[in-house]
Amino acid sequence: MALTILTGSANVPLAEAIARRLAVTLVPRTLERFPDGEMHVEVQKSVCGDDVYLVQPTGPPVDGNLLELMLLADACRRDGARRLTAVVPYLGYARHDRRARGREAIGARLVADLFQVGRFERTVAVDLHSPALEGFFAMPVEHLTAVPLLAEAARPFAGEQSVVVAPDLGAAKLADHYGQLLGSPVAVVHKTRLSGTEVSVHGVSGNVRGRRALVVDDMISTGATIDAAVRALGAAGALPGSTVVATHGLFCGSALERLAAAGIEQLIVSDSLPAPPRSPVPIQSVAIGGLLASAIERLHRGRSVADLLAHT
Ligand code: R5P
Repeated sequence: MALTILTGSANVPLAEAIARRLAVTLVPRTLERFPDGEMHVEVQKSVCGDDVYLVQPTGPPVDGNLLELMLLADACRRDGARRLTAVVPYLGYARHDRRARGREAIGARLVADLFQVGRFERTVAVDLHSPALEGFFAMPVEHLTAVPLLAEAARPFAGEQSVVVAPDLGAAKLADHYGQLLGSPVAVVHKTRLSGTEVSVHGVSGNVRGRRALVVDDMISTGATIDAAVRALGAAGALPGSTVVATHGLFCGSALERLAAAGIEQLIVSDSLPAPPRSPVPIQSVAIGGLLASAIERLHRGRSVADLLAHT
């Protein structure tokens, strides 16, 4: 069964990096829009009988990238792909994992069901918003983690006077993991989300006074969480000039300007999503193509990926 890598339009450089590592060429495909806005996809080389890995993070534009993934899966199935794996370095809708207020949809559950409809046998994801999301999928999910790679990139910024900070309670275990890898103490900011773009902070647990913060999170979207956390840390006596580490940098709207205004000196994110064209804050991009290629190669050969998985 041939190993085949195919990608949508969401992050072509990452798919190219994976293909290079695996010494294969990406399967050519066309992605078009009809005048009425509908998508049309076509795989231009036979994948009949192949072990196909479809690489597509479902970041912004989330709905378009998700549908493109499903259409490509359908095209592969109809062409006779033997096995189909979704490689989704960033999974959109992951934060919609429960009804927070009332008559809401649970987007994460619906998206997991869509993967089933797409007839994927398996999904590979990286640093999901919550580890429990794995249970939303009926198929096996290989939940990889980029945290060890990100922690190595952050090491030069983690001196003796550093403190690893979770910007909300949901990130506390993640911060603990970074704290262990970097040998740093951990603090937690207590956050309440007010809306999609605004949060409020009501306290900091842990000693941050006179320390430089290394704020860690799974993702940065509008920057509201990091902005509020860094301001609260300043008020609690932390030194100015925080470093922020996150697996997924979405940087929606004016997030980067907001982070610059908050005084963040360095951002470290993986390349799960395309890099912004420009940024007022220096961004260090950590490559995860090797991690994904290693997982794909092992899955193709029927070997364990246990040491690459997130255990949070
Ligand atoms: C929330 O629980 C997540 O871990 C992130 O902290 C949050 O989604 C980031 O979003 P934003 O940058 O818009 O605050």
